[in-house]
Amino acid sequence: TDKPRPVLTVSPSWLSPGASVTLNCEVEHPSAGWSFYWYKAVPDLSEKSSSYELLPDGSGTAQDSYIIHGQTHTAGYVCRAGRGDPEYHTDHSQPKFVWSADVHSAASLTVSPDRVQHFPSDSVSLTCEGNFTEWRVSKFSEKGFFSHCCDCQKLSGSSYKIHSLQEGVTVYWCESGSGELSNAVNITVRGVFK
Ligand SMILES: *[C@@H]1O[C@H](CO)[C@@H](O)[C@H](O)[C@H]1NC(C)=O
Ligand SMILES: *[C@@H]1O[C@H](CO)[C@@H](O)[C@H](O)[C@H]1NC(C)=O
Repeated sequence: TDKPRPVLTVSPSWLSPGASVTLNCEVEHPSAGWSFYWYKAVPDLSEKSSSYELLPDGSGTAQDSYIIHGQTHTAGYVCRAGRGDPEYHTDHSQPKFVWSADVHSAASLTVSPDRVQHFPSDSVSLTCEGNFTEWRVSKFSEKGFFSHCCDCQKLSGSSYKIHSLQEGVTVYWCESGSGELSNAVNITVRGVFK
């Protein structure tokens, strides 16, 4: 049987460094005594997925919202809910991201060429910098579709080439093997006039 899956929202999704971020976890029947669990998504390059790290005081809160103070970097979050004794748990929500455009010393992503707007036929390379041996690129499209970047070709070291640029705005970021998320960049693609 399929477990219900809560829907997580984060606000704001683009961060001014040091701002507070509010997470909301929505379950289908909110009145019925749920408690909530709050996690940070930590990339796991070997598993090609993510693992979850419980946030401080994020275990079994009565509130369906959780506030993170002083957030500075790109991060992904996940929630789930539980109720009853023994406790029944919902599935984990889809991860939601808070993006920071700020480059920090540990992990940074640069785009070349760095243009306001690209054409679908352009080729764009992404370079992840930082003292990490392993990287993965992830992306999030305007339509809300999240994926690890399987349409990227790994060039050398930590450079990637994107083959097929999607029309619209897509957010890209890098994830290191130790769970660092780089700054995020918007890549905006507009076709020729139709
Ligand atoms: C990179 O990381 C390694 C292992 O943690 C460390 O020994 C080395 O000093 C670091 N290099 C730089 C330039 O930070
Ligand atoms: C990226 O695009 C989104 C949606 O269009 C926008 O809200 C956000 O401010 C942009 N961020 C940056 C750093 O350009």
